[in-house]
Amino acid sequence: MARRGVIGGKGAHDTFWAFVTLHTEATHHLLWHLSDRGVPRSYRMVEGFGVHTFRLIGDDGGTSLAKFHWKPRLGVHSLDWEEAQLINGADPDFHRRDLADAIDAGAFPQWELGVQVFPDTPEQTFDGIDLLDPTKLVPEELVPVQPIGLLTLNRNPTNYFAETEQVAFHVGHLPPGIDVTDDPLMQARLFSYVDTQLSRLGEPDFNQIPVNRPHAPVDDMLRDGQHQHEVHSGVTAYKPNTLGGGCPLHAGLDAGAFEEVATAIAATTKQRSAPASFADHFSQPRLFYRSLTEVEREHVIRRRPARPARRDHRRRSDPAGHRGQRR
Ligand code: HEM
Repeated sequence: MARRGVIGGKGAHDTFWAFVTLHTEATHHLLWHLSDRGVPRSYRMVEGFGVHTFRLIGDDGGTSLAKFHWKPRLGVHSLDWEEAQLINGADPDFHRRDLADAIDAGAFPQWELGVQVFPDTPEQTFDGIDLLDPTKLVPEELVPVQPIGLLTLNRNPTNYFAETEQVAFHVGHLPPGIDVTDDPLMQARLFSYVDTQLSRLGEPDFNQIPVNRPHAPVDDMLRDGQHQHEVHSGVTAYKPNTLGGGCPLHAGLDAGAFEEVATAIAATTKQRSAPASFADHFSQPRLFYRSLTEVEREHVIRRRPARPARRDHRRRSDPAGHRGQRR
C-alpha cells in the first residue's frame, strides 16, 4: 500500500522507509543522513569520507590499510531545517550557485585530504571493527586522520556537458601505491561502473574524451572501437609478437606502471552470505547518536518521516482533533 510511491514521479518515501526499516544495516547511514550533516550550509562545507578501505603499498613493498577523508577548510556547517525549506523553495539552485559563485569570485573552496592508516592484518579488522564492512567507520578518537594533501577547486567547468556530464569516475582509477581490497561493495563497484559507462558514453574509448583523458600520454595499444582518436600504426595489438618488433610491451614497476600488490588469500569457502560483522546493525548508529549534542539529537528526531498522507487521513476522520494539534 504505497501511499507515496513513484506514481506520478513523486518521492518514493514509502518504499524508502520500507527498505531502510527492513535492511537495518542501513540504520547507521540513515542517522547520519537525518542529522544536521544531511542539511549542509554549502557544498563548500561538506565533509567526505570513503566508506571503503583501500590498501597502501610502501616503497619497500610493505602494505597497510587506509580510509580516505576530505575535511573542508571552511569547517562543517549546517542549515536549520526551516531555513533549508525556505531557501530551496526560493532558489532550488542555491547550492550549485553558491559553489560556482564562490569559485568565480576567487574564494576557492579547499579540502584537506587525510588518511586513517591501519595495520594490514590477515583479519583486516581494527579494534574489532571489520575494515571491509562499509557500514562501519573507525572513530577518529581511535585512529586520527593524518593530513597528506590539499584539494582546491579553482575553476568552474567551461562546458557543463563536456566536462561534467561526460565524466566517468571509477573506484579502480588508482595511482601506483594504492590498491583495492576485498570489500564486497567495492568489488561490485569495480565492474559495475565500467558497464554503465560503456553504455552511457556510447563507446569503448570514452577514456579518450577530454575530461577523462590522462594528462600523460598513454600507449596502451587498445586498438580500434568506435570513437578511437588515436591512429595506431602497425598490425600488432598483442604480445608477444614478432611482426611489431615486440611492441606493445608490458610496462612493469620499474617504468612506474600500476601493478596489483600480491596478497595472501585465506583458505575459505565461497558462499552467498555476509561476514559476521555485517550482522551488527546498531552499535555504530548508537555511537553516532551519542556523539551528538542534545539539540542535534532533537533535529534527528524531528526529521523522522513526514507522513502527509496519514495527516490527510486524520483530517478526514477527525478534523477537530487534527486542527487541535495545529498551532
Ligand atoms: C557506498 C556505496 C556507493 C556510493 C557512495 C556510490 C556513489 C556513486 C556516485 C556518487 C555516482 C555518480 C552519480 C552521478 O554521476 O550522478 C555513482 C554512480 C554509479 N554507481 Fe554507485 N555508489 C555506491 C555503490 C554502488 C554499487 C554497490 C554499485 C553496483 C554494484 C554502484 C553502481 C553505480 C553505477 C553503475 C553508477 C553509474 C556510473 C556512471 O555511469 O558513470 N554503486 N555511484
